[in-house]
Amino acid sequence: MNKEAVIGTDLALAVQLLLADEVVAVPTETVYGLAGNAFHDRAVSRIFASKQRPFFDPLIVHIAERADLGIVADQTPTAYLPLMDHFWPGPLTLVFPRTSRISDLITSGLETVAVRMPAHPLFRELLKRLPFPLAAPSANLFGRTSPTTAMHVAQQLGDVIPYILDGGPCQVGVESTIVRWTGDGLEILRPGGISREQIQAVTDLEVSMKVRSEEQIDITVPGQLPEHYAPRTPLLLATPELLQSDLSRDAVLCLNRQQCCPELNAFQLVELSPSGDLQEAAARFFAALHELDASGCRRILAVPLPESGLGVAMNDRLRRAAHQ
Ligand code: TXA
Ligand code: MG
Repeated sequence: MNKEAVIGTDLALAVQLLLADEVVAVPTETVYGLAGNAFHDRAVSRIFASKQRPFFDPLIVHIAERADLGIVADQTPTAYLPLMDHFWPGPLTLVFPRTSRISDLITSGLETVAVRMPAHPLFRELLKRLPFPLAAPSANLFGRTSPTTAMHVAQQLGDVIPYILDGGPCQVGVESTIVRWTGDGLEILRPGGISREQIQAVTDLEVSMKVRSEEQIDITVPGQLPEHYAPRTPLLLATPELLQSDLSRDAVLCLNRQQCCPELNAFQLVELSPSGDLQEAAARFFAALHELDASGCRRILAVPLPESGLGVAMNDRLRRAAHQ
């Protein structure tokens, strides 16, 4: 049943659809998500089908309150307590041992479940009105650029989902940071909206960064699975040589002019933050990729961002988008 998705702010309609095991695109502070009842496999399988996502890529479960954690997570590592105190609600996902309420479909058969308490007020209100948590991956077709506006969602999924709840442009702009407890330290499986420095500032434990390899995928560590964030226009990581070549048909994406090359003469130049602010850059990041993808340029040359703070998450997405 294909029908045009409707974009709107009707919370009651979103509730009604989710109660009926339908999927609804929802705004979060990171990127838009495609949500469904985490306790009904019928809803969860609709999420996978709508985004053409392979079943081996597990989903994040979203809760409204700390009190809801017990129905999805079996136990809370004490190492998570300061992280939950400081960063929930917000763009941090933690990996817990799962309870029996969480099906194999959500976790791809793993004994763990990834949980996040989102900060977006409309999404929080939706979660509070529902008697179940929501499973939600980013609301893009598998492998494609993540959506940070309702319109981005409509462009990719508009004809396969019934409703898009519009909460405005996402304020953080990159997906949540995914962290797990290894038994003797904290490991970042995916860099995201909370930086490693921010995490390290609230814990004495070692915070390591999982190195994700496209060549050697470890199926037991889901942070490794392929996500490409790819625009349809070829994306290349810009080198000084590339930036000196003929750019009359190429678009350049950079933090700001000072960072790349003040005299650049490209088909189009997008500065993510003229003042060099990484938070502002992250908020504009995916929207800039969507915009350049539609601009008619031959290639997108992306200048890597400073490898600190939110720059780590953006560079991770750029490397993956450039992979193919
Ligand atoms: O900001 C976000 O996290 C957004 C919004 C919608 O909340 N969601 C999001 O979901 O980025 P998605 O599906 O695009 O990425 C989920 C990733 C999976 O690809 C996997 O790497 C990781 O979460 N994941 C899920 N369950 C896991 C688990 N049990 N252990 C380790 N990683 C897991
Ligand atoms: Mg995604």
